[in-house]
Amino acid sequence: MDGNGRWAKKQGKMRLYGHNVGTESVRACCEYAVEHGIRYLSLFAFSEENWNRPQDEVNGLMELMLKSVLGERETFRKNNIRFRVIGDRSRLSGQLLENIDMVQDETASYTGLTLIVMLSYSGKWDILQASRRYAADCLAAGKELPLDETGFAAYLATAGIPDPDLMIRTSGEQRISNYMLWQCAYTEFYYTPVLWPDFRKNDLELAIQSYNRRERRYGKVE
Ligand code: FPP
Repeated sequence: MDGNGRWAKKQGKMRLYGHNVGTESVRACCEYAVEHGIRYLSLFAFSEENWNRPQDEVNGLMELMLKSVLGERETFRKNNIRFRVIGDRSRLSGQLLENIDMVQDETASYTGLTLIVMLSYSGKWDILQASRRYAADCLAAGKELPLDETGFAAYLATAGIPDPDLMIRTSGEQRISNYMLWQCAYTEFYYTPVLWPDFRKNDLELAIQSYNRRERRYGKVE
């Protein structure tokens, strides 16, 4: 969800104002996803690297996260949305974790859109934590356990969630920025200059239209 800071600066406002307006884009994309039967929508809300931002901005983003999680409970219930948060929990506050867990439990049986918020997440972190857990299982078993791609994916924090079909990058950035490194092996990428606070349903529609025109061969010959 890139471009909140630049968007705010253009309006002569603080960066946090951009993040706040960015939550309206989150709402719009969720609405679009529900209306069009999209099964999974993941949002990169806060990376491991984002912990290095000024403390005020980090605190503001965490407060915004707490407010959004609590504020959207009714939306989740009404729209059958399953809410998940994925990332390094050890760096999140007890209060935020408590509320995330409550809303995750509350929505666990919902069968519509699965909304995944990547928080304190990085792709390298996920691969490392998966490797550590595999190694621990080997130690516990006293032998090297068999491992293939499916088996390794089950150790990732995204276990059970399909790999993304489409990744949208806003604000003109054209990097993967440590996002779902394993899971994006065959993901289609879409870049747009639109800053995240301006990204609305019509922009998501354009991204999906672009995706629908592509031919996915997964390395094979047609
Ligand atoms: C990146 O833009 C954006 C973030 C680090 C925060 C995104 C978070 C939200 C929109 C909050 C709402 C999220 C949910 C799931 C309710 P940037 O700050 O890097 O902007 P810049 O590239 O212009 O500096």
